[in-house]
Amino acid sequence: MHSLVIFLLLCLSYNALSAPTSKKKGRSFRIERFRRSDYVAHGPTALQKAYRKYGMLIDFDTPYQSYQTSSMWETETDESGEVSATLVQGGSEYVSPVVIGGQTFNMDFDTGSSTMWVMNAFTDLPTLDGDSRTVYDPTQSKTFKSLPFPSNYFEDAYGDGSYNFGYVGIDTVSIGGVSVTDQYFGLPTEVSSEFEEDTGSDGLVGLAFDSINSIVPGPQKTFFDNVESQLEQPVLTTLLREDGVSEYEFGKIDHSKYTGTLATVSVDSSRGYWEFDVGNFKAGDVELSNGATSKAIADTGTTLLLASSDIVSAYYQQVRGSSLSQSANGYVFPCTADLPDLHVTLGDNSPVTVPGAMLNFSTTSLTPTAGEPVCVGGLQEGPDGLQVFGDLFLRTLFVVFDKRGPSLGFASPK
Ligand SMILES: *[C@@H]1O[C@H](CO)[C@@H](O)[C@H](O)[C@H]1NC(C)=O
Repeated sequence: MHSLVIFLLLCLSYNALSAPTSKKKGRSFRIERFRRSDYVAHGPTALQKAYRKYGMLIDFDTPYQSYQTSSMWETETDESGEVSATLVQGGSEYVSPVVIGGQTFNMDFDTGSSTMWVMNAFTDLPTLDGDSRTVYDPTQSKTFKSLPFPSNYFEDAYGDGSYNFGYVGIDTVSIGGVSVTDQYFGLPTEVSSEFEEDTGSDGLVGLAFDSINSIVPGPQKTFFDNVESQLEQPVLTTLLREDGVSEYEFGKIDHSKYTGTLATVSVDSSRGYWEFDVGNFKAGDVELSNGATSKAIADTGTTLLLASSDIVSAYYQQVRGSSLSQSANGYVFPCTADLPDLHVTLGDNSPVTVPGAMLNFSTTSLTPTAGEPVCVGGLQEGPDGLQVFGDLFLRTLFVVFDKRGPSLGFASPK
């Protein structure tokens, strides 16, 4: 516990909130998101990451679909044991710049979780080839404040035994030139292998609701909560692209970024997520569901589009030669197959189309001996019926995450 000793020596006792700072109101700011150059799309890994994040565990020794819920983290598992509120990130595809205590990092902006954390001088990290990470050094920050450990800590624990654990710090965090002076964030000392290997990302900025923030003894506010008083409007908009410039903008809805009208759907934040109603699903002209309403989570930190098993199996019935592959842990299809467009209605009745070509996520080899690679679908079954609309879905749209309501707005990007 060498790092603990250093940390305790470093500890300045944190004197409640210091003098209030004057905050300029009515701002907005934009941040670019860029694709990591070393990122390689891999369907099974992306799916596993999403399952882990939502507290589920794929059991590789038993057939597909027999994954179990993680009940070990009982304090944050809801009554039904359905969704763990603890979250993990690994293998982030895209990152954006964030300044903490004057030091700059590339972090993953995640609307599907609520804790900010950063790799730091205390993190026990192996030396890896191609590691481009920058670690936060609290001793180099004049504005860092620590909180006493172990009465304060942060922890994300998962069903497969992986975890992320460490101290809690407070510092000035700036995104797009706008600063929050007392942002609480996690300083992991120990991270599991998924995080160790994710060498292009220095940490994560959680942008979901504070009820699922994983700082102990109590949930703390997200950067989005803290910056709200400085914003013109309490909104975050996303314009995500596969390649080229992607943008997050806080504080205003830039009407020049989309065409037509913005369809607004109300958000149910009771589970801490940006969760909204979806109705009908269609593959091309074929109805996949009876139109009954279900819920989906808008998550910039998940790569794939995850829907209920009925919808997903009905979709792949429309794809010649597709199958649910145990070795790929998901639906695969011959790379020459035609993928129909996926139509989904959001909220009351706002239609959105995900072009079939976007649902061709990656190629994979099913077994080491089989020569022909197959293609892995970007539409896959969500863990335990949970529908998570990640990047593959969000990329087709200009999206407004609006704290008023709260609500989500969707429109076609310009
Ligand atoms: C899917 O993508 C692979 C490359 O990743 C390509 O070879 C294949 O033709 C594509 N298939 C379809 C149906 O778009």
